[in-house]
Amino acid sequence: MSDIKIAVLGVGIMGADHVARITSRISGAAVVVVNDYLAEKAETIAAGIPDCRAVGDPLDAIADAQVDAVVIASPGPSHEKQLLACLEHGKPVLCEKPLTTDAETSLAVVKREAELGNRLIQVGFMRRFDREYAQLKSMLDAGEFGRPLVLHCVHRNPAVPPTFDSAMVVRDSLVHEVDVTRFLFDEEITSIQIIRPATNPGAPEGIQDPQIAIMRTASGKHIDVELFVTTGVAYEVRTELVGEKGSAFIGLDVGLVRKTATGMWGGQITPGFRERFGQAYDTEFQRWVDAVHAGATTGDYTDGPVAWDGYAAAAVCEAGVRSLNSGEPVDVRMVARESIKGA
Ligand SMILES: NC(=O)c1ccc[n+]([C@@H]2O[C@H](COP(=O)([O-])OP(=O)(O)OC[C@H]3O[C@@H](n4cnc5c(N)ncnc54)[C@H](O)[C@@H]3O)[C@@H](O)[C@H]2O)c1
Repeated sequence: MSDIKIAVLGVGIMGADHVARITSRISGAAVVVVNDYLAEKAETIAAGIPDCRAVGDPLDAIADAQVDAVVIASPGPSHEKQLLACLEHGKPVLCEKPLTTDAETSLAVVKREAELGNRLIQVGFMRRFDREYAQLKSMLDAGEFGRPLVLHCVHRNPAVPPTFDSAMVVRDSLVHEVDVTRFLFDEEITSIQIIRPATNPGAPEGIQDPQIAIMRTASGKHIDVELFVTTGVAYEVRTELVGEKGSAFIGLDVGLVRKTATGMWGGQITPGFRERFGQAYDTEFQRWVDAVHAGATTGDYTDGPVAWDGYAAAAVCEAGVRSLNSGEPVDVRMVARESIKGA
């Protein structure tokens, strides 16, 4: 089988990482085109990969006859236009989260894909591919915890860029717990409240940090999330699931535990999301490439979260930002999935 020829749009932190993973660790695919708003960046990356070109316009890169599939790793505001172009050209696409920046445009993308018939869009919610989350999900589905009742989550970053604001804590950080909840519980989130505790004096001025999110699902399950993005310590993502027959923890960072002559014991902390979720990104990409190979016969070019999941996450985050401003619980406004044939 010949390699899937991929165009990567946006070669910043994530895009450059994805180019490296496709080139060195993923089988059955090759990067043939890279594009970036900063042409020089794309040219430098293309120069390091055999038979790869830089293309100046993202829409030309999508339309390029040599390109079979697309990875979108440009900033969120450019996703809608690039996704719609992929759909019009019938090209499978793995789009980094968010699908688009708001629920309305995400829904328009879901509808357009459904109209055209093939399932072409996968969204980059990579935690679903992390070994610990995947194990938790299989145990849950096998009934090992009985009925799941509660999810306690912690999402901490050592620091965020100076451009990060309070709404981005919801849209860029909490969005992952939103997807994890929907993945584990297989149901929609129906309401969300963001609580604003006393702010970390070390956080940049104007940013509400930490934040506590409280979510509720359609069947009444409770989810709480501590979001704290300026801890100065490490990248910590923990999830505890509580069910009627017991509970389980993931993300405890308990790799090697060392004891020293100074009387200390412990392990290493995870510095960032690329280290914590490196395996998840690799698995996500390999499974997507395999699905693109298989898609010609099935019409489904995905193996993971789809456009609907991107829309649902956008709708919850939109309600989350409204709650951040009002302090009140906010109902999530979403259309019913059954109302869109093929979504
Ligand atoms: N799944 C995850 O864990 C995860 C983590 C971080 C970021 N992300 C997502 O990945 C995407 C990229 O984030 P990043 O951290 O790599 O950002 P970044 O700023 O490091 O990189 C974005 C790149 O896109 C380029 N660019 C800007 N506009 C463009 C356009 N219209 N077309 C093509 N390229 C364009 C920029 O020049 C830059 O090189 C975002 O959607 C972000 O939310 C996902």
